[in-house]
Amino acid sequence: MKIFQLVITSASFLCLLQFAASLRNKNGHWWYLGLSPTYLNGRDRRDDGDAAHRCNIRYFTPEQKKLCIKDDDILQVIARGARKGIQECQYQFRTRRWNCPTKNSTDVFGKVLQIKTRETAFIYAIQAASVMHEVARACAKGELKTCGCDSNIRNQKTDGEFEWGGCSHDINHANLFVSQFVDSTEIKVKAPGQMNLWNNEAGRLAISGEMKLLCKCHGVSGSCSIKVCWRTTDNFRKVGKNLKEKFDGASHVKYSKKKQKFKPRNKFQKLPGKTDLVYIKESPDYCTPNHKTDSLGTKGRLCNSTSQGLDGCQLMCCGRGYYTTVKQVEEDCDCKFIWCCEVKCQRCKYKIQQNFCN
Ligand SMILES: *[C@@H]1O[C@H](CO)[C@@H](O)[C@H](O)[C@H]1NC(C)=O
Ligand SMILES: *[C@@H]1O[C@H](CO)[C@@H](O)[C@H](O)[C@H]1NC(C)=O
Repeated sequence: MKIFQLVITSASFLCLLQFAASLRNKNGHWWYLGLSPTYLNGRDRRDDGDAAHRCNIRYFTPEQKKLCIKDDDILQVIARGARKGIQECQYQFRTRRWNCPTKNSTDVFGKVLQIKTRETAFIYAIQAASVMHEVARACAKGELKTCGCDSNIRNQKTDGEFEWGGCSHDINHANLFVSQFVDSTEIKVKAPGQMNLWNNEAGRLAISGEMKLLCKCHGVSGSCSIKVCWRTTDNFRKVGKNLKEKFDGASHVKYSKKKQKFKPRNKFQKLPGKTDLVYIKESPDYCTPNHKTDSLGTKGRLCNSTSQGLDGCQLMCCGRGYYTTVKQVEEDCDCKFIWCCEVKCQRCKYKIQQNFCN
């Protein structure tokens, strides 16, 4: 009887532990590294212990801790990736009602993530893309012990047009690392988890599908008799722009548990492709502050009084109207180059009108 009780209590204790762990993962996220100066600026090796200690971050999953311990320099790389993703999100959405606000909590984007909207889809995709971009670059720069340049690329045919040289970004390594690291936060049997996994992959494909070739010519006086090329990830601003287009064309889907796949809500729509973003719920309008979604509303936001688009005052201010202020701006103008080597400018003062939502 005693043993039986013991088994029961330890089983429920385990349950409780698992429950606590799932709560932690739900509210905390590796993205938070991107808001943390400690990780962004590198670390002070003198007093922060060994890798196991440094990787014991409370909002990491066990898988993430394991990957981190293999080479804890990855922490800085992930932090940079997370920050770049946040900044790109805010840049791409600067003229939208929802402008990718963050808060100083481990879930970074707040409760908006708990509704599985296209904004959530974008966040997952841009963060996965961003950290993959950063990992590929860090590997090529030799910042990490576990990776470097892509050596297999030299087996790829070039039809005699060029030779492989330089340091190609090892996109396969970056893809594998990021899928292990990023996907490990998801509960795979549920629709929200499936949605996140899908959009994580779309984000990774936004990187691996848009690689570019850089080349250098060698030969007598620019004859280019020998052309050496290497493959790198594309400029991240372009990746952000592509994903923003995917956001605008995202598929509204429902998850079929039986078939374990997504189907379009509207049966006349085609199935989403691997590079498309998918979402389950329509977005709220983000017009007014709402603590349930951590929406800040659009009061006080800058808007364009002559635009009919989403940045226009009509749509941005949700019909509440706007007020106009005049701002005095002073900047350099009529700059002249004086030989040699000076640039002389006038200071010009002028006024600009700015509109803000009521
Ligand atoms: C964010 O919160 C943490 C912990 O509460 C605190 O140490 C840190 O200074 C805060 N950062 C900012 C930018 O407010
Ligand atoms: C406002 O919108 C108009 C029309 O779309 C555009 O031409 C103009 O450049 C915009 N102004 C600003 C400051 O973005």
